[in-house]
Amino acid sequence: MQKGNIFEHVLDQVNLVDLISGYIPVERAGRNYKALCPFHSEKTASFIISEEKQLYHCFGCGAAGNAINFVMQYENLDYLDAVELIADRYNIDISEFSSSNSQKKTVDYKLFYAVLRDAANYYYKNLRTAPQAMAYLEKRGLNYDIIRTFGIGFSNDKWTDLINRLGKKYSVATLEQVGLAIENKEKNSHYDRFRNRIMFPIVNPRGKVIGFGGRVMDDSLPKYLNSPETDVFNKSQTLYGLHLAKDHLHEKKQLIICEGYMDVIALHAAGFQNAVATLGTAMTVEHARLMKRYSEEIVVCYDSDLAGQKAALKSIDVLEGVVEKVRVVVLGEGLDPDEYIKKYGPEAFKEKVDDAVTGTAFKIRHLRQGFNLNSEQEKVTFLSKASEIISQVKNGFEKNLYIDELSESLGVNRGLIANEVYKGSKGNHLSFHSQKKSRNIPIVENDRRALLEEQLIVYLTHAYSKLTDMQKTVIGAFEFSESRQDIFSYLMTYFEGNDRFSMQHVIEEADLDVSSALEQILEKHTDEESDIDVDLVLNNILLMKLDDALDALRKELKTTDDVPKIEREIQHKLLLKKELTLKMRHGK
Ligand code: GTP
Ligand code: MN
Repeated sequence: MQKGNIFEHVLDQVNLVDLISGYIPVERAGRNYKALCPFHSEKTASFIISEEKQLYHCFGCGAAGNAINFVMQYENLDYLDAVELIADRYNIDISEFSSSNSQKKTVDYKLFYAVLRDAANYYYKNLRTAPQAMAYLEKRGLNYDIIRTFGIGFSNDKWTDLINRLGKKYSVATLEQVGLAIENKEKNSHYDRFRNRIMFPIVNPRGKVIGFGGRVMDDSLPKYLNSPETDVFNKSQTLYGLHLAKDHLHEKKQLIICEGYMDVIALHAAGFQNAVATLGTAMTVEHARLMKRYSEEIVVCYDSDLAGQKAALKSIDVLEGVVEKVRVVVLGEGLDPDEYIKKYGPEAFKEKVDDAVTGTAFKIRHLRQGFNLNSEQEKVTFLSKASEIISQVKNGFEKNLYIDELSESLGVNRGLIANEVYKGSKGNHLSFHSQKKSRNIPIVENDRRALLEEQLIVYLTHAYSKLTDMQKTVIGAFEFSESRQDIFSYLMTYFEGNDRFSMQHVIEEADLDVSSALEQILEKHTDEESDIDVDLVLNNILLMKLDDALDALRKELKTTDDVPKIEREIQHKLLLKKELTLKMRHGK
């Protein structure tokens, strides 16, 4: 069998309800099962398990997935580790997969982790015999507690110190494979990669040392030397300090991402144990996903110099593609978090974090720095660029907030900015308001359809009883697109048996696909609920249907034997369309 099937192989043999029952109390709820969500705190159960689908979904926090995802999230494990844990617990034989895997390449992880751990221990012990290194750390404000927490060490100023130390236990080839030794091909010998440096072990979330960063104690270059990428060390998937931070996220699921080793260490020392850092490389989607596994909100806190702020802009884009809540701290004065805390103290830093702005606000702020707003010309350019940024915001309510803010701070008419924003908008999340007001906004047809159908769904959930029989008949006769058809069918049946809408009821009763899709739609349109004009929505849908029908007829015209008949039908539809447009124009 192929390695790729290991997941299916394991998933086939576990029952998700069983598996989750092993962790938390689970009870039946209609066709599904429910529990108090283990991933956020709640008093009423919104964590739903579908036995049919072998999927879970929390309607409170959005956690969702299959058995492997559950174990990953609950046990803080990566994918393969979670698979192994499940296989182990359910006695599922996965040896065939691991053996075919190891034929390709033999990586002795156990050995690698052991060498790296031994090296870390050696550097750590060695620090005590290196007064100049201790003095340096003291100068940087690190006490012994924090040195121990991070396992900070020192590599001697000799060419083969580590090789001599560990050479009795491990081959020099192994030392080379984990990045600790470098081969000198001319001399056919090896030397230590890290010499005369403060050593920061890099530890993965499972507590294994996977690499090192080494800092010089003076101004020589390079300032930092990092382990190369090895079989156990991948920079684009590793965050410094995460092994510590992950155990401090119980009250608040928030991570602070900074740029440097010393920032993480200073923040932890000052009580911000939720700080992590990339390893001198750009933020990747993998970094973002990794953080998302542990936290709900990510606060970017980069150096406040120009380079740091540029890096922050790039990171925001990566993060916002993965995580919903992203905010940015701007420290000012060109300081980095370490320097800021030294200068102003933890309280002031805490305030900075509390005041962190959204990614969009940060982008606008950054953009603004480049313009002289006293010049009308520059103001116009700034506004059009700022509007472009705002048009990317998905949530209509949030969009309006930025428009308000900009209008206020620049003293520019709100409507003008709004126009500019919606011009740049792709139209996919156009709020109903703006759609009513400005009719000539180009909207992608599919998005418009989705928007209207979603609005109709929202309307049904809170005002079904207000519908006339005629309206109900019209809705019943519509064919909706994609997953929305299932939601409509469900809702129509739902209201045959219930007077009022209850999401909890739906969650327990409906198919998981239907309830989660419905929930997403309601979430997206929370702020529009009371603004929806159901007649306008229905008429717009009717118009779209008429256009569809007309398109189809015109195509048919080219192939039909009975041209007059099709033409009559076209005329008829055109007449209907005209009537409908007239009716709409007169507000009824
Ligand atoms: P201090 O200067 O000791 O306060 O360290 P810092 O953590 O503030 O470092 P800095 O802001 O200069 O750089 C941020 C991060 O980039 C570091 O923590 C390293 O991961 C990485 N980095 C910095 N300089 C170098 C370098 O010379 N080589 C490599 N490979 N990485 C570097
Ligand atoms: Mn620094």
